[in-house]
Amino acid sequence: MIVTKPPMGWNTWNTFEANINEQLVMESADKMVELGLKDAGYEYVVIDDIWSLKERDENGRLVPDPEKFPHGMKYVADYIHSKGLKFGMYSCAGYVTCAGYPGSYEHEWIDAKTFAEWGVDFLKYDFCFHNFDVSAEVLYRRMGIALANCGRDILFSACSWGSEHTRVWVKGTGAHMWRSTYDIKDSWASIKLLGQSQLEFQEYNAQGSFNDMDMLVVGMNGKGFVGITGGTEDEYKLHFSLWSLLNSPLMIGCDIRDMDDSAKAILMNKDVIAINQDIGARQPFIVNNQIYKVRQNRGPDDSFIENNPLDCPVVAKFLDNGDIAIGVFNFSDGNMTVEVSLDALGLPKISGKTLELTELWTGEKEYASNGMLFLGKSFPYHACKLYRAKVVDAK
Ligand code: GLA
Repeated sequence: MIVTKPPMGWNTWNTFEANINEQLVMESADKMVELGLKDAGYEYVVIDDIWSLKERDENGRLVPDPEKFPHGMKYVADYIHSKGLKFGMYSCAGYVTCAGYPGSYEHEWIDAKTFAEWGVDFLKYDFCFHNFDVSAEVLYRRMGIALANCGRDILFSACSWGSEHTRVWVKGTGAHMWRSTYDIKDSWASIKLLGQSQLEFQEYNAQGSFNDMDMLVVGMNGKGFVGITGGTEDEYKLHFSLWSLLNSPLMIGCDIRDMDDSAKAILMNKDVIAINQDIGARQPFIVNNQIYKVRQNRGPDDSFIENNPLDCPVVAKFLDNGDIAIGVFNFSDGNMTVEVSLDALGLPKISGKTLELTELWTGEKEYASNGMLFLGKSFPYHACKLYRAKVVDAK
């Protein structure tokens, strides 16, 4: 099974933790279709931890909690499939899952077979309570080879939070995506921490095995299991833009039955999603690290102070049709002056080319001249811009 684009869907964990059942999952599947999320590309409906009983049955098989899932998992899978969506489930490489339910350690083959029989299309595979005598690499290989032989295409979503240098070996396990962060929380501090931490991992990010920056918190507004302060509209836009530009899977974590208009508009911005789903799936790159031109306003003399590149990274990704996606992410708590050198993007003046850009949240047009894209002297804090840039002849 080859996964060409970052997977998109919805997962129960961020909002519902243990409070899950078939009604919630089926209603959420209905909503994915009704609201247009499915048409926007979201396809996986994923049940996270705390779905089973604490004991396996007499044949060693996992048992769905009959109070939560009275008709069993095949029933839920059939319903989700009838909506044209795909069904995801969760297990763990440990003896037990992070919440203490049976894990798949030494049950990899029977569990892979069970998931296949239930009609599962996606398996998130966690890393709590594992046997420390076996490396993470081997634990993930065990499930990878079991899934590859289970008789069904099941997307393998490795969730070892980057432990034991996951990035170096994870592609060998057959994982189609791998969690490159610890758990997200619904707060600006968490969005910033996770977002900034990922810039150095882009060399491991490519088609077939995407860096997974964890589920989205857009629309949680401080509610639900990982809800803390929530984010402002700017902060949620920055979060969604960065996850999109860095080829992260886009797994919604809010209650989609109860989303506000702002969350809907963010999560269904087709132009931003198109950057994430671009068929080229090229490695994003940090422009600041090459020619670094981000300055901070310092009074009337506008004195030039170089910032930490992580304060306001400029990140780009070449798109399959020749366009360039460019994102500016102001993580700092002050307004910034931002200039981006076209030379650093690969367009020196001598090429005779420049960029015509469309900002994907506002529709504003910009034109780069004199080898520079100037984004103003007061690029607001916690805000971002995400552009799709066309290469054109310089005037
Ligand atoms: C870990 C994972 C989370 C979630 C919980 C479930 O913390 O990283 O995404 O799946 O376990 O217990």
